[in-house]
Amino acid sequence: MQIRPKVLVTRRAPGRAIDILEQLFEVDLWDENRAMPRDRLLDQVRKVDGLYSMLTDVIDTELFEAGPSLRVVSQMAVGVDNVDLAAATRLGIPVGHTPDVLNETTADTIFGLLLASVRRIGEGAAYVKAGRWGPWQPDLLLGGDLHHTTLGIVGMGRIGSAIARRARGFDVRVLYSNRRSDPEAERELGAHHRTLEDLLQESDHVVVMAPLNAGTYHLIDEAALRLMKPTATLVNGSRGGLVDLVALERALREGWIARAALDVTEPEPIPADHSLLMLENCLIIPHLGSASVATRKAMAELAAENLIKGLEGRRMTACANPEVYE
Ligand code: DGY
Repeated sequence: MQIRPKVLVTRRAPGRAIDILEQLFEVDLWDENRAMPRDRLLDQVRKVDGLYSMLTDVIDTELFEAGPSLRVVSQMAVGVDNVDLAAATRLGIPVGHTPDVLNETTADTIFGLLLASVRRIGEGAAYVKAGRWGPWQPDLLLGGDLHHTTLGIVGMGRIGSAIARRARGFDVRVLYSNRRSDPEAERELGAHHRTLEDLLQESDHVVVMAPLNAGTYHLIDEAALRLMKPTATLVNGSRGGLVDLVALERALREGWIARAALDVTEPEPIPADHSLLMLENCLIIPHLGSASVATRKAMAELAAENLIKGLEGRRMTACANPEVYE
């Protein structure tokens, strides 16, 4: 009888992904409704050939040493900042991820977060739930406008471009900051390239979508926030580490900027008693960017496909360290 490869799945994924894996491999599934504890992960990775991971798992040299037979990692997320890609590449381990299938859903969420923040929708909903709604008032919860403003997108990748397309429908002028200018974004989206400093100064609203790495950690710090307009909105739709929350809290309390909306925080989850949660001008949701039924299924299935291809020795559909194939 042929021995089936062993796979560790660190969290139940939506859709048919796990069923598909179970048809092909011997699957060890962490089936609790919480991230797999580190000691269990290090223990259970010992004898597996493949790892189907989540963004909450730290995949580093300690883990690779704990799992000497590990040949393939496949993560159900586009962001792989939790994975030591250089170490994986050195060991010849391809790391799968799930780009593209989540672009439009994430852009919907982050654009919605921007709109909700600018128009104070979260505050309005909390106001009604608190039983404070009285007769109509001419000056109740007045916010800013999104239409006919300037939106700065920090990190114009695939999701940033999808946000820019939505912004055009609101007659919003789009600026972007990337290391290099992107002629396609300029031609197709009418977006204008700026340095980060110029973008922060010129934009009415700023959306952060750059990936987290050593060069982008706390990209939005006190100095960056002080460049923004006092009427500006800051939205983080990428990873919590991009924004220094201590500086952000001061910015919101002292009026350096008007409001912020975060889909991601550092740490994550943000503690329930964190002082940022007391601020009415800060809207925080629990990392929901790609959280539609269809998109999470598509991510789970793409991650399964990457794992299968990796274990069969084929090139993954979406590999975060393609240099491993060179
Ligand atoms: C990702 O995929 O990296 C998101 O943060 C979750 O969809």
